[in-house]
Amino acid sequence: MEKVEDAFGQFLLDTLESGDRTAELIEREDNFIDHGSNNGLYFFDHEEWEPIEQQAIESAQGNILDIGCGAGRHLLYLQEKGLEATAIDSSPGAVEVCRLRGVKNALVSDVWIFRPMPIATDLQEIIDQAKSKEKYD
Ligand SMILES: C[S@@+](CC[C@H](N)C(=O)[O-])C[C@H]1O[C@@H](n2cnc3c(N)ncnc32)[C@H](O)[C@@H]1O
Repeated sequence: MEKVEDAFGQFLLDTLESGDRTAELIEREDNFIDHGSNNGLYFFDHEEWEPIEQQAIESAQGNILDIGCGAGRHLLYLQEKGLEATAIDSSPGAVEVCRLRGVKNALVSDVWIFRPMPIATDLQEIIDQAKSKEKYD
């Protein structure tokens, strides 16, 4: 994806740069307009997450792949806990934000290039493919 088309990535980059906790606006071709996530959601620290998220991430172990990592909030938490984790996101801007925030293994990749869809046993293969296909510049 060209950076110029990457509205969500630009939103994350602007949020990182400004520190303003806003939400994205959604405007579709069918004129549907809505307010996106909670303000600042993609940059929430662990204590701000929903309880179900906090509970779910405690199950993370082994080879971890975060598909659609956004600004990397889950990856940063896993890294802090000393877990090995890789993230992919189709948005170059999102991956740039992850890297600027200190995420070690963030790759630009679209999950739909993987057929069939990822299952737990294929994670290393997906991580390897994402590394070899990454288009980030
Ligand atoms: C709603 S955001 C969630 C971000 C992050 N998981 C979080 O909870 O903060 C969804 C993310 O998925 C990414 N995404 C959407 N379609 C994708 C695809 N086909 N492959 C990889 N990432 C994708 C978007 O760029 C976006 O960063």
